[in-house]
Amino acid sequence: MSVATLDAKRLLVLSGLCALLIAAILWYRIWVPAEAQPEVHNAESTAIQTVTLIKPLMDEDVPRQSLEGSSDAGARGSATAGAALSESSFDWRIPGWLPPPPVPEDNPMSEAKVSLGRHLFYDQRLSQDDSMACDSCHQQSLGFTDGRALSVGVGGSVTERSAMGLANVGYSPALTWANPHMTSLERQALVPMFSEEPVEMGMAGQEQILFGKLQQDPLYKALFAEAFPEHDGRIDLLTITRALAAFERTLVSVGSPYDKYKYGNELQALGEAALRGETLFYSEKTECYHCHQGFNFTDTLQTANSGFAEVAFYNTGLYNLDGQGLYPAGNKGLFTFTNKPEDMGKFRTQSLRNVGVTAPYFHDGSAATLDEVIDHYAAGGRRVQGALAGNGHENPHKDPLVMGFELSDAEREDLKAFLHSLTDAEFLSNPRFSDPWPDGHPARGGTGISLDQSDSTTTTEVSKP
Ligand code: HEC
Ligand code: HEC
Repeated sequence: MSVATLDAKRLLVLSGLCALLIAAILWYRIWVPAEAQPEVHNAESTAIQTVTLIKPLMDEDVPRQSLEGSSDAGARGSATAGAALSESSFDWRIPGWLPPPPVPEDNPMSEAKVSLGRHLFYDQRLSQDDSMACDSCHQQSLGFTDGRALSVGVGGSVTERSAMGLANVGYSPALTWANPHMTSLERQALVPMFSEEPVEMGMAGQEQILFGKLQQDPLYKALFAEAFPEHDGRIDLLTITRALAAFERTLVSVGSPYDKYKYGNELQALGEAALRGETLFYSEKTECYHCHQGFNFTDTLQTANSGFAEVAFYNTGLYNLDGQGLYPAGNKGLFTFTNKPEDMGKFRTQSLRNVGVTAPYFHDGSAATLDEVIDHYAAGGRRVQGALAGNGHENPHKDPLVMGFELSDAEREDLKAFLHSLTDAEFLSNPRFSDPWPDGHPARGGTGISLDQSDSTTTTEVSKP
């Protein structure tokens, strides 16, 4: 057989394959409802890359989940019907006016799973040198943020973004500051553990070591067995991330003075100043409520009852490096994921729950106080000096709702009083969400049975008293 015919044969086989592929894509486009199809962008997210690196384990649930997360009402209803039975037995301990967050069909809620997730959330053995747990960056008393402008990972590596509060995170159909593809808590949990750029918990390539560490702990044997009987109590990425996600879905915060006033009929729960602040917040002067809307003060929202996911990103005029709207490297928002010029500097509307304790503010922690936040909005986009100099007010991609306004000193105090009335003291100290481990336990960096201490001398956390 000549070389030419060989090539021709190959070509034939190849074009056959291509035709099949195209047919498959067409079938998907036509038969799967548009809302149920994940957005297709040429994503460059480290998050996505990390996830694709992390094993077929997750593949069995990830695509299905993201499809269900945004499917239409009818599809959702039938898809979740199977889970409804087990679902109804879970006690969310939330008020009657609030629907629970959506729960993926393949990860139904259970007390055992939530308890396991809580232990994992507070377990430093989830990090490379046993120095860092989720709560290192997500502290309950700070609304599950870390009080820093930029988060610091294992070995002191500074990340590019500010840690986010986790109050009501189960109601957010798009996770992290600007990633439209990060739609599931199960998948998100992989990012802090395994991301390499930036390093957070530094476990990339160390899955087996992690499972080994957890297997050493007799408590986990029992907890995993109880939480995942259908997986024979297996300790792996699938069970770890599902338990973390189940715990995170219980982090519901609707017990603030504002909630008591608004939904609890306790008219005296809100002071005069906060009441006047509420009026300002919901006024056409400040426009705050257009984006920070609904019970969670954000227009990115999905409940168990919503037919579809609402997701919104805006450029609020924080930067303007080149006079044409450029945001700083590493923090270009939605643009990083879509490469569309108009997406430059667009970030997800952040919930304002517990905002009184979650400073510093914005994706890069660049506003230290609520006064600085209000200054920014009052200017209709702030003017930045120094290395990132530029006039955000003139950012061409800025949303028209951020147009600026004048506030008297008294009005400013009122607006702040309203924002502070969203602080839910009960949530910030609720024992159901707090560290379950005894002092000095290896999970909290204590000595004891912990393995893999080789790196521990280089960190300060491990040797805490
Ligand atoms: C080194 C600090 C750090 C650690 C440790 C950490 N996070 Fe985060 N977390 C962040 C930062 C920073 C963001 C924002 C990320 C972004 O937008 O790129 C974030 C975002 C999140 C979000 C998205 C919240 C939202 O509203 O969209 C969730 C959920 C989350 N983290 C859960 C976890 C879990 C679970 C763990 C433990 C497995 C964890 N984090 C460990 C710093 C950390
Ligand atoms: C056009 C939509 C929009 C309007 C109008 C708007 N915001 Fe925002 N808000 C956002 C977005 C988007 C973010 C996240 C921005 C970022 O980090 O880059 C945000 C962030 C914030 C934050 C920081 C939250 C955190 O955890 O870091 C506060 C506080 C805030 N807004 C308060 C207000 C107030 C008060 C008003 C009215 C004066 C207002 N916002 C008007 C969209 C809006």
